[in-house]
Amino acid sequence: MSTKSPLIAPSILASDFARLGEEVRAVTLAGADWIHIDVMDGHFVPNITLGPDIVKALRPHVDIPFDVHLMIAPADPYLEAFREAGADIISIHPEAGPHLNRSLKRISQLGAKAGVVFNPSTQPDVIEYMMDDIDLILVMSINPGFGGQSFMTSQLKKIERLRAMIDASGKDIVLEVDGGVTPQTAPLCVSAGATALVAGSAVFRGGASAYADNIRALKGA
Ligand code: DX5
Ligand code: ZN
Repeated sequence: MSTKSPLIAPSILASDFARLGEEVRAVTLAGADWIHIDVMDGHFVPNITLGPDIVKALRPHVDIPFDVHLMIAPADPYLEAFREAGADIISIHPEAGPHLNRSLKRISQLGAKAGVVFNPSTQPDVIEYMMDDIDLILVMSINPGFGGQSFMTSQLKKIERLRAMIDASGKDIVLEVDGGVTPQTAPLCVSAGATALVAGSAVFRGGASAYADNIRALKGA
């Protein structure tokens, strides 16, 4: 069980898209560790969000890492564009392409941290033989595509299993959880071994004056 407070990565999916720059600055000032950016293509997931040009436009607003979650297929043709736009971490779903290891190596070659994302039905074994090529593991505790969904407690066992795999590897891999993270579910994730939490609704609810308290409530987990 981890005793450190988790890194908090607010998902801008829940922010005011008409004022993205301001929102990113506000959550950063409120104590966010990373900015989580959800990229959706209307094909891999049933929703469409934003592309590299928006990441690039946001980059000058803050210095904290951009944690880019690609829910697009294929992802390979866009890795370079997201890196050039300012992504520090790029995470991909194994289902998004035929050669997960090649994609991860490409992300590393581009100078970004490479992440693998697990859908609720994706098995931990997918990464068993490629721990050396992974910097971050993102466990979805909802079906990707939309914010504001309820946390799937079925995923806690997977977080525990991945924690054990990370510990056995001896590598410093971040274990992040995404979906339905609230002050109620955050402690469950941290107890299961998570070291970073994505939160959309739980950070952006209540408007800018509430962001610092919202982040503190999640860190308190
Ligand atoms: C959904 C995204 C999540 C989403 C989480 O596909 O990956 O990052 O924004 O939203 P909440 O925290 O509201 O569940
Ligand atoms: Zn996400």
